[in-house]
Amino acid sequence: MPSWKTAAATSSIIWMRSFGHLVILFSLCCFTSAYSERDRVQDLMTRYPLIDGHNDLALQLRILHNNRLSQIDLRNVTKVATDITRLRAGHVQAQMFSVYVMCGAQDKDVVRLTLEQIDVVRRMCTEYQDFELVTSAQELIDSKRHNKIACLISIEGGHSIDSSLPALRMFYQLGVRSMALTHTCNTPWAESSSDIYDVYQRQGNSLTHFGKAVVEEMNRLGMIVDLSHTSWETAQAVLNHSRAPVIFSHSSSYTICNHSRNVPDWLLHKLKENRGLIMVNLYSKFISCKGEATISQVADHFDHIKKLIGAESIGIGGDFEGAVSFPKGLEDVSKYPALIQGLLQRKWSESELADVLRRNFMRVFEEVEKVRDQLRSLQPSEVQIPLEEVQNPCRLVLKAPNLKLLPSVKISSSAAQHRPKGLVILTMALLFSNLLMTE
Ligand SMILES: *[C@@H]1O[C@H](CO)[C@@H](O)[C@H](O)[C@H]1NC(C)=O
Ligand SMILES: *[C@@H]1O[C@H](CO)[C@@H](O)[C@H](O)[C@H]1NC(C)=O
Ligand SMILES: *[C@@H]1O[C@H](CO)[C@@H](O)[C@H](O)[C@H]1NC(C)=O
Ligand SMILES: [Zn+2]
Repeated sequence: MPSWKTAAATSSIIWMRSFGHLVILFSLCCFTSAYSERDRVQDLMTRYPLIDGHNDLALQLRILHNNRLSQIDLRNVTKVATDITRLRAGHVQAQMFSVYVMCGAQDKDVVRLTLEQIDVVRRMCTEYQDFELVTSAQELIDSKRHNKIACLISIEGGHSIDSSLPALRMFYQLGVRSMALTHTCNTPWAESSSDIYDVYQRQGNSLTHFGKAVVEEMNRLGMIVDLSHTSWETAQAVLNHSRAPVIFSHSSSYTICNHSRNVPDWLLHKLKENRGLIMVNLYSKFISCKGEATISQVADHFDHIKKLIGAESIGIGGDFEGAVSFPKGLEDVSKYPALIQGLLQRKWSESELADVLRRNFMRVFEEVEKVRDQLRSLQPSEVQIPLEEVQNPCRLVLKAPNLKLLPSVKISSSAAQHRPKGLVILTMALLFSNLLMTE
């Protein structure tokens, strides 16, 4: 064989060999890049695990089990999208658990029902070793070190306080650190984004004098004001009035999907001035305005808000258990890494994602506590809502009954009927005055 042929054969063998190497190298590259992207998310979320703004597991415990916690194992609850196993898999290190009572209970037994929801969250967060109930920014930081899932308690709807600042303060004592001023109904003092309940309609007074007192008292206590579910006018009035940063715990961008639960750009600018936070809601209806959605459509909300007011104003408020359909690939609380991967692909930096995952919320919580500390010389507010603003048949007016106005019945039976009622009123008055003195 001529030497040139040998040389050619040899070189072609060498060439083929290196081509083979190249193919191997190339597929290895692809494999590593796919592998490292998921790895990068895992690594990032291990260092900066998520603080999520909104989850309605407590509502599901009410619906499915009437709050009988002993009937289920929270490590594995197949009927819902949230359990300890999946929270761990999703790198959820802290969860704001909503204590939500439907608007139908307004002016009825809403305070009892709210207490029962607080009870069930407190129970689940103390009876399971994986959870830890936290009530301060420092405890939240510590819980990460303890490898716990921190539980924060958040009231969803100002109707829960029955227009009473003492009730608000007692909820704070039970560990509540955030409250949405409305749910889907107006309260006597703030306005909802929804009009499905035709109650407490007012013209051009979206945050009353008492409503401002609620915001002031929340600032004084160090309770985070949540504007998800309020009307835009109420949100604006609160942003004008609050001394501390506020949050939208589970709302998305109105420009991307024009649902009234989402936040318009002009309000996002006000939120930025307030140093507050919008925690993007993943509910398909608020993402795509349709019954279904994709991770890419969720990323559109993040991109838009970042462009408008910066990554330092954004968080995540999944709304699992409170909504019925979630984007493909984000069906339960274990899926948050897929969202973070989607944002990495949209060129979000690790620092921006660390902000979104937890640093922004920590900043807001710490600033809310700082404002509380600045206001510590203030006494508990004694502002009371005017009676005419809360008149309803279930509100007992604490004064001695006027016997002359009672229906005329035989004197003896009338006295027998009403004396105990008078006693109850006296006892309640004493109880209330005691509470105020020990406050
Ligand atoms: C969770 O419970 C279901 C039945 O309710 C069971 O089939 C499944 O294996 C359990 N998973 C784990 C991780 O324990
Ligand atoms: C909030 O303040 C702005 C000006 O700073 C004012 O134009 C607006 O009317 C106020 N809105 C409410 C609802 O208080
Ligand atoms: C929302 O947008 C859709 C189409 O993008 C439009 O048909 C609808 O009228 C809009 N709704 C409101 C309230 O602006
Ligand atoms: Zn909600």
